[in-house]
Amino acid sequence: YTVDWDIDAAEKQGYEHFMLKEIHEQPRAVADTLLGRLDADGRVTLDRLDFDPALLRALDKVYIVACGTSHHAGMVAKYATEHWAKIGVEAEIASEFRYRDPILTKQTLVVAISQSGETADTIAAAEYARAQGARVIAVTNIVGSTLARTADGVIFTRAGLEVAVASTKAFTTQIIALSVLALFLAQERRQMFAEECRDMLDRLEALPALMERVLEAEEGMAELAARFSGADYFMFIGRQVGLPIALEGALKLKEISYIHAEGFASGEMKHGPIALIDDGGPVIALATDGHVKAKVVSNIQEVKARGAVVLAVATEGDTEVKEHADHVVYVPDVHELLYPVLTVLPLQLLGYHIAVALDRDVDQPRNLAKTVTVE
Ligand code: AGP
Repeated sequence: YTVDWDIDAAEKQGYEHFMLKEIHEQPRAVADTLLGRLDADGRVTLDRLDFDPALLRALDKVYIVACGTSHHAGMVAKYATEHWAKIGVEAEIASEFRYRDPILTKQTLVVAISQSGETADTIAAAEYARAQGARVIAVTNIVGSTLARTADGVIFTRAGLEVAVASTKAFTTQIIALSVLALFLAQERRQMFAEECRDMLDRLEALPALMERVLEAEEGMAELAARFSGADYFMFIGRQVGLPIALEGALKLKEISYIHAEGFASGEMKHGPIALIDDGGPVIALATDGHVKAKVVSNIQEVKARGAVVLAVATEGDTEVKEHADHVVYVPDVHELLYPVLTVLPLQLLGYHIAVALDRDVDQPRNLAKTVTVE
């Protein structure tokens, strides 16, 4: 007899698409990103960052530059870096940053994030920053990439090969790498005690097992996808670290399903976007525990009152969100700043299953390339 086998299918290891395989590889990838980040003295260590501690203490500004999904990881890192390292951070789109006149000095740190390390705008932004005297750290998945070679220091994300155009495991590993960088800066700048840094690293190390649990909800997300796949417009809303996840959920959906989707800071809804809501329009809300949860809940009530159908992502054990939302997906309870690594998972699954339901080319969406080496 003949065996129906080809290299493509073998590389997908039984998954229908690379994107789904890569979604499920995330717990492992995140664990790999975290390997060896604590030295024998119990200090956070980044082996390819050979910066003078005095320089790290003297830094007065951090710019995080990137494109697309990598930019969303940078937005997540802004919150953690400001909170832990007590330094001002701006997360910027590389194609904008390189064409304005950012104030860059020897006290400026520029963190350039790129899965491929070959994105033209991100490389140009890093080169521009170095030419102005700023220090540049690359956060990339590819050893030997142009960005890795351009920078003064590198953090490798160790996500493994990402084939699908829609980025998934690159995103979660970038958030982890940037979280370790934020803790490293907090430690070197003496803004956190060693025990506090270790405690937070322990919490990061607990994430892969929790991610596995969230990914078990796949069937439920496939059912919701079937229910929502006829919608022609999706809104994603969130605040604080929920905002970049709202933007990322919308980007995933639009790039692989071709449905119009937008992410909004939920506090901005009444300044314009709420006019878009009409009967039955799906709104995805990031409503996990934290100091802004009550605000998001009230934003959910506002969109519900105008006819939206709300799918919320909330914390296990929460009883409030389900009183207002039509559907709730739960993720385990973690530190407020670490939710993005969990909350993005159901949104990746939602985007994936909607694209499958619409029979889209999931791994190779139209008009897109995996690596954008031109402007
Ligand atoms: C993500 O799903 C996209 N395909 C895209 O936004 C991507 O993140 C962006 O092009 C940046 O790529 P990079 O990380 O390789 O620089």
